[in-house]
Amino acid sequence: MDLPFDGAISRYFKEGAPKEVRKTIEKAGKDDILTKSYPYKTDLKGKDYIAQMDRLQIELAKMQNGLKISGQRLMVVFEGRDAAGKGGTIKAVTENLNPRSAYVVALPKPTERESQQWYFQRYVDWFPAKGEIALYDRSWYNRAMIEHVFGFCKAEDRARFFRQLPEFEQMIVDEGIILLKIWLEVGRAEQLKRFLDREGDLLKQWKLSQIDVDGLAKWDDYCKAIDETMDKTSFKHTPWTVILSDDKKRARIAAIQTILGAVDYKGKDKDAIGKIDGKICGGPDLRPK
Ligand code: ADP
Ligand code: MLT
Repeated sequence: MDLPFDGAISRYFKEGAPKEVRKTIEKAGKDDILTKSYPYKTDLKGKDYIAQMDRLQIELAKMQNGLKISGQRLMVVFEGRDAAGKGGTIKAVTENLNPRSAYVVALPKPTERESQQWYFQRYVDWFPAKGEIALYDRSWYNRAMIEHVFGFCKAEDRARFFRQLPEFEQMIVDEGIILLKIWLEVGRAEQLKRFLDREGDLLKQWKLSQIDVDGLAKWDDYCKAIDETMDKTSFKHTPWTVILSDDKKRARIAAIQTILGAVDYKGKDKDAIGKIDGKICGGPDLRPK
């Protein structure tokens, strides 16, 4: 079988990556966390993760049932750089849910026709109906970040996006839909390490794209676009929840706790949900400078 990105990531690792990023990856032990500013030095232990996650899964199932009864609609937007852990976190949320009313929205690049429509239009098609949970793996925020960094949209398109956005999200909230925006923050060495893993694993290669490869050299452009986006889009009515995701396990737990915390449902067990770890989950200020 032809491997789609045969060697491109390894080549970048050897030839393009900043020296300290390469060294950090080379030196790291299996459970070490690569970002220096991360509040923990090693990943959460598997045993602790499973114990917490088992209880959270039960709460998620109760929450879905509760939404069905109340007719509330829930929408969660997952954003973050490539390999930040969006896909894996979403999988952890949906694992034991009824797929009929909990679905993932992961749209490909806009078609020719979609690119001639109102930018937000195709995302609206997937808004939840009564009792449904819509989990967005990337979202309209593409325009603010990836499309900008890669030049897929004009400056004026992005400016119009930022102008329309507060009202767009206000309309969702006014509708009574619960809208959560989760930003997964991954460090540079950890991102590259995940790409290297994906390149070497046939089962993970589908997660790699040319965008990921080309994006490696655009780390700083992304930084700028992300900072700008956080500044402009942290609305009172739809604030960002930032989760430091170098440790995938801690990140998944915090994401699920955040979702459970936003919904009222019968039989909610606050003890099972537990306290959100404020060291890895909070507002945009948590992002490393
Ligand atoms: P993902 O990281 O979500 O698995 P990709 O890395 O392939 O997927 O692409 C990242 C995002 O960029 C996707 O949401 C995709 O729709 C978007 N994208 C890719 N190419 C274009 C393009 N030419 N114009 C607009 N958006 C694009
Ligand atoms: C992630 O891991 O954040 C995404 O699901 C996959 C990617 O962007 O590479």
